[in-house]
Amino acid sequence: MRQVEILITAPMMPSVVEALEEAFVLHRLWEHSDPGELLRTIGPSIRGVATTTLFGRVDSGLLDQLPALEIVASFGVGYDNVDVAAAAERGVVVTNTPGVLDDEVADLTVGLLIATLRQIPQADRFVREGRWTEGPFPLSSTLRGRRIGMVGLGNIGKAVARRLAAFGVPIAYHARSRQPGVALDYYPTITALAEASDVLIVLVPGGAATKHLIDGNVLAALGPNGVLINVSRGSVVDQRALIAALQSGAILSAGLDVYEDEPRVPRELMEMSNVVLLPHIGSASVETRDAMGALVVENLRSWFERGTPMTPVAEVRHLVG
Ligand code: 8YV
Repeated sequence: MRQVEILITAPMMPSVVEALEEAFVLHRLWEHSDPGELLRTIGPSIRGVATTTLFGRVDSGLLDQLPALEIVASFGVGYDNVDVAAAAERGVVVTNTPGVLDDEVADLTVGLLIATLRQIPQADRFVREGRWTEGPFPLSSTLRGRRIGMVGLGNIGKAVARRLAAFGVPIAYHARSRQPGVALDYYPTITALAEASDVLIVLVPGGAATKHLIDGNVLAALGPNGVLINVSRGSVVDQRALIAALQSGAILSAGLDVYEDEPRVPRELMEMSNVVLLPHIGSASVETRDAMGALVVENLRSWFERGTPMTPVAEVRHLVG
C-alpha cells in the first residue's frame, strides 16, 4: 500500500496526516505556492483524496486533473464540498464520516438553543464588563411553552429531538416525506411548520437542493416571537433575509453555528445583541474530531487494502456493490 499516492487538499488534523503518512505517499496541495503546477506533475498518479468540508472543495475541475482517482474521503458528515455527481460519473467513490458526530452536534444544538433563549453569552459578557454592580441583567426569553420545529430529521435531527423530549416541549418536523415509525407531528411544508412553531432548528444537508430553504417567507411565518437555530450549513438560510428579519423584529433571535461565507460573518450579525454566534463548532471536540479523523483514514485504508470503503455516501453505493 505504501506506493499509493494521496492528495490532501486542505490542512487536516496532525493525527490524520500522521496516520495517512504511515500508509501512503502524501501530497499537500495547500502547501504549494503553485497548486496548478503540482497537479500537472502529480495529478496523474493520485489515487485517493483526503479533504475537509470547510476548505476542501473537490469539483469537476479538480477531478479532471486526477484521472487515476479512485476515492475521495471527506472529513465531515456533510459533503456539499464534493461534487458527488461528477465523482460518481467518473466511478470515483466518495466517503464521509457519519455516525461518529451525531451526539456531539446534538449536544451543541441544545446548548446553542438554550444559550440563545436565555442569553447566556450576553450574560457572561455582562458580568465580565462589571455591569452587574450597576443593576441586574435584563430578563430573557424562555424555552418554556415553546413549540419546536425540526427542519430535517436525519440522524442528528433525531438525536436533537430525543434530547428536547426530556425538556417537555412539543416537537414537530418537516422532512421531504413523513418518516415511518416517528411519532412527532409532520408538516409537509416548511412554511406550515414555521407557522406552527416558536423555534425552528435547521438540520438538513447543504448543497443546491436546500439553498435558501429558510427565506424571508419562512421567517415571517415563524413570527416575532420566533427563534432560528442553524447548525447545518449557512447556505440553507438566506442570510440577507435573516439579517433583515432580526433587524425589523420579524423574528426574535437566532443562534448560528454556520454562515453563508465562512469564516466571514456579516458585521450586521456581529453588532446584534439578539443573536448567539458560534464559529462552526458543532463537532469540534477533541474526542469527536479524533473519531472523524480515524474514519477518514480507515476509509482510505479499507479501500486500498480490501476494495471496500467503510462509509460510502448514498450517491456512490452502486459503485461499491
Ligand atoms: C466539519 C461539519 O467536519 O460534519 C460536518 O458536516 O460541518 C463539520 O463537522 C468541520 O467543520 C470540519 O470541516
